[in-house]
Amino acid sequence: MERHVALVTGASSGIGEQTALELLRRGFTVYGAARRVDRMSTIVDAGGHAIAMDVTDDASVSAAVDRIMADEGRIDVLVNNAGYGSYGALEDVPIEEARRQFEVNVFGLARITQLVLPGMRARRSGTIVNISSIGGRIYEPLGSWYHATKFAVEGLSDSLRVELEPHGIRVVVIQPGAIRTEWNGISRRSAIERSGDTAYAAQARALVRALEAADASSTASEPHVVAATIAKAATARRPRTRYATPVSAKFIVGLRRVLPDRVFDLVIRSVFAPTTAELAEQRAAERPAAAPGARREADPDRAAA
Ligand SMILES: NC(=O)c1ccc[n+]([C@@H]2O[C@H](COP(=O)([O-])OP(=O)(O)OC[C@H]3O[C@@H](n4cnc5c(N)ncnc54)[C@H](OP(=O)(O)O)[C@@H]3O)[C@@H](O)[C@H]2O)c1
Repeated sequence: MERHVALVTGASSGIGEQTALELLRRGFTVYGAARRVDRMSTIVDAGGHAIAMDVTDDASVSAAVDRIMADEGRIDVLVNNAGYGSYGALEDVPIEEARRQFEVNVFGLARITQLVLPGMRARRSGTIVNISSIGGRIYEPLGSWYHATKFAVEGLSDSLRVELEPHGIRVVVIQPGAIRTEWNGISRRSAIERSGDTAYAAQARALVRALEAADASSTASEPHVVAATIAKAATARRPRTRYATPVSAKFIVGLRRVLPDRVFDLVIRSVFAPTTAELAEQRAAERPAAAPGARREADPDRAAA
């Protein structure tokens, strides 16, 4: 029997790396894709392939998909996993960075999907697994752009599911909760970089604390837990439309479904509330000058606006 072929983006770390390894264990021919090819040696050692890909670069994505099609003649499963968290108050995040967040988390996913679809349509089979987040259903302060991208992935995937059903192609959404990967540190750093010394500094510190606590919490999971769910979705005869994982993620998504906005706001506010010390620190930093304006003028994007 022919081995099924899977392409997993963002395979140099975290969920993508574990997914590539899990699909290899399940007998797939696996191509892991990422910018840091040197970080995919575990996949190569396990019998997979590592392929250079920057999801924001058309040429790089085309070259990767062309190579797989030339070598294997098919891609049965596409796991759109590459992504990162860009945090910071909306007022503080340059629009250029917001565009980059969308380029990676949304347009990158769409770019690869467009290139993989002709082959899947020709065979009238295939599964596209889009890695969203519980953040595609809930929200955090200073998370506007990350959540905007994940809500976009949710809507895009719903449309795509019904669009591709007549062509025999399945679309599945995965909604991970807190997973211990590089994602958390990258997100925390972006919040401090953007809003660590602005009018949102106390909220940025509170966000960082909440993200750290989520990572350390017993309800957080290791990435192999998500990988197992992805592999299950990719191999199921009739997969569910969405999988929230781990259990804590199911609970949060369920809570969001039943609570009205204002009540859910209370939950979010309590989790991300700055401490008295953080607020005092911010007030002290603001005292010498009108800080927000000063910071704004220093930003060339805003000066030009
Ligand atoms: N960890 C969590 O708590 C969590 C929760 C919900 C959802 N998620 C989602 O899960 C997915 C995987 O994240 P993770 O937690 O495994 O984080 P991670 O450890 O930081 O891995 C992210 C992967 O994305 C790749 N990537 C980033 N920018 C890229 C680009 N421009 N082109 C190609 N690849 C790129 C990275 O590879 P290179 O840097 O080598 O290119 C890396 O392999 C993301 O979509 C994330 O939003 C994570």
